Amino acid sequence: MSTTALATLEQARTLLAAMDWTPSVDLALRLTHAAELAISEDGSARRAVLVKDVLAWAQLQFKRRGGQLVEGNVLAVQRVKTEWELGKRLERDAEDGRRHHRGREETVKVNRVDFYQYADIGMTRQAAARYRRLAEMDWADIDAVLQAELQKGEDGHEITTQMALSLLGPPELEPIEGEGKAAVMALDAIDLLKSIRPASIDLLLTDPPYSTDVPDIVAFAEEWVPLALKTVRPTGRAYICTGAYPEEIAAYLDALGRQDALILEQVLVWTYRETMGPQPRDRYVLNWQAIFYLRGPEAPRLNCPLMIEQWAVHDLPSRPASEGHVHTWQKPMELAERFIRHSTEEGMSVLDPFAGTGTFLAAAVALGRNGLGAETDAHMLERCAERGLEIVRAS
Ligand SMILES: C[S@@+](CC[C@H](N)C(=O)[O-])C[C@H]1O[C@@H](n2cnc3c(N)ncnc32)[C@H](O)[C@@H]1O
Repeated sequence: MSTTALATLEQARTLLAAMDWTPSVDLALRLTHAAELAISEDGSARRAVLVKDVLAWAQLQFKRRGGQLVEGNVLAVQRVKTEWELGKRLERDAEDGRRHHRGREETVKVNRVDFYQYADIGMTRQAAARYRRLAEMDWADIDAVLQAELQKGEDGHEITTQMALSLLGPPELEPIEGEGKAAVMALDAIDLLKSIRPASIDLLLTDPPYSTDVPDIVAFAEEWVPLALKTVRPTGRAYICTGAYPEEIAAYLDALGRQDALILEQVLVWTYRETMGPQPRDRYVLNWQAIFYLRGPEAPRLNCPLMIEQWAVHDLPSRPASEGHVHTWQKPMELAERFIRHSTEEGMSVLDPFAGTGTFLAAAVALGRNGLGAETDAHMLERCAERGLEIVRAS
């Protein structure tokens, strides 16, 4: 395998780092030409990552040396093209069940969730999802928009990957097809719920903000509950986890009593032994949460072969060491996995409009179900991304 062009590009990087030079369109064009050659001589995703990184680095150097917008944009067009190419390569490798690892091509068992060892080639799964989305488009369409921006010269905007991605328009707000995929929409739960086809979801499994975090729990429950339950199929189920505060339980009993999409079957309990905060003087320490359990009128039997899992009280630690607990709201995976196993089969859809750190969607993915969620908090979205969930931002 020839590595000439990449060596040239790497050499250019060293030279640019060492020498006294001034940014110019000519230099940017020469770099993009070297990048083009480097990418075309090797079909691996790893190579595309390297070339993309060199281009991003060069763009930064241009900026630091006072380069003009148009010089940076020349490099940016080539970088976006390399990312598009990278997306194509990731798609191809996923289909073939192959990967390029340490210069060798290997055949790997294609696990649809984590089909590519992204860290091996120096990128996150979130970035990989972005490149694969980019590759859904024809390069000619992306190029037309980027070239038009480039032609505006110094009057244009900085060319970004997002500029290309926004051509796709807002993502499809439908449950994802296929096994073990999940997306978290960076938007308000109400907007997500309004965009989902009625009776299209197999399982609503969610943990909305508690009465301590919303100004009016009655109005809040009244707004989101009917919208959410409408999305569930008559064969589906719903589990709504809430705080154990009397006013919160009352608000949910009221909202659930007003709808007739699903049957409110039971109030389950999740109890845990670890508690937080000071010892109250006149009250007991809350070490449980309520889980409103509903089923559709045509729901099949619960798939719950283990007696211990069919108890209405689920006694599970809130902070299993194995899960690297990071947030007070974070639910244990075991709890999520139980309800998902009991109520769905592989390939079915799980909806969590209040995703938080993404526990329920991550559990859905782990069990080969498809997850769809929403979350508005940037920190929570970061946690979801760290867990390998795709974050979808409407542009
Ligand atoms: C109790 S937490 C969910 C925790 C989650 N089950 C987990 O294991 O991490 C509720 C989440 O809902 C989010 N949230 C609150 N209001 C929202 C809204 N209107 N739309 C979307 N997310 C919202 C909060 O940011 C919070 O992360």
